[in-house]
Amino acid sequence: MQTTPSEQDGQYGSAEGIRSFYDRLASGEADRLVKDLPGRVSFEVHRRFLRRHLSPGSRVLEIGAGPGRFTVEIAALGSTVVVTDISPVQLALNAEFVAAAGVEHAVERREELDVRDLSAFPDGSFDAVLAYGGPLSYAFEAERTAMQGMLRVVRPGGVVLASVMSLWGTWRAGLSSVLSMEAEHGTGVGDMVLATGDLRHVPGLEHVCRMFTWQEVEALVHAADAQIVDGSASNWASLHHGDTLAVLEQDEKLWQRFLNHESTACSAPGARDGGTHILFAARNRAHPRP
Ligand SMILES: C[S@@+](CC[C@H](N)C(=O)[O-])C[C@H]1O[C@@H](n2cnc3c(N)ncnc32)[C@H](O)[C@@H]1O
Repeated sequence: MQTTPSEQDGQYGSAEGIRSFYDRLASGEADRLVKDLPGRVSFEVHRRFLRRHLSPGSRVLEIGAGPGRFTVEIAALGSTVVVTDISPVQLALNAEFVAAAGVEHAVERREELDVRDLSAFPDGSFDAVLAYGGPLSYAFEAERTAMQGMLRVVRPGGVVLASVMSLWGTWRAGLSSVLSMEAEHGTGVGDMVLATGDLRHVPGLEHVCRMFTWQEVEALVHAADAQIVDGSASNWASLHHGDTLAVLEQDEKLWQRFLNHESTACSAPGARDGGTHILFAARNRAHPRP
């Protein structure tokens, strides 16, 4: 019989389970955005999106900061940052990576934090919140609370920048793994995942998260009485064609030209579901951009 996530026992998808996954993954996470071509493109698309929306000199709350690639980017913009993560191991890696990049001066402090509980921070205490790489995808039943919390701690006119795992893009990128999973567990499991975005339906999966469609991201932001001001996929033309793109990557000029077109394509409304992640920028309705 098909079980639902809530019927499954133990730490499946719990804060302890996710923390322990990222503690064990440790420096494996540091390689995610450099080890292959889609990862490198995803990093560049995220970096450009950050630059588009983060004003230099901002005070930023970074949630799920992980090993710190975007902490360094925040520092490069002359902004300061409170670095947080649910995993103490990731926070320690963040300290190492940021120090090695020579930008520790931009870090106000580091602390353990679950995106589902931002009660430690007063209203409007940051210019921006950055939650890249999916903290919201690990909030499960508390995703609305998490979204509201992030919007509450930014000042009027401030921005929440986040990326979540994409349902259709992940299905597209990992179709052969999906079919293997269905061969093992049955097509009903695949149907449940596609209907809900919730990987907790797959028995025994080590890494579970909730994947979103663009429409669901919009609904989540609107339910928090905020508006979406920008959106993007993390990849559009770069999930496949690895051999062709590897040649292009060798030529800096051609590569930058490709990245320019890829970033533009990723932002097109018709492409936002197409990458492994969906990026969005949200502002409170009551506080339009100054
Ligand atoms: C895929 S990594 C992304 C790291 C970094 N932001 C990036 O984009 O490169 C996800 C990070 O979110 C953290 N995380 C997972 N669940 C979280 C939660 N509920 N609250 C805060 N952080 C969480 C993990 O520990 C991990 O460091």
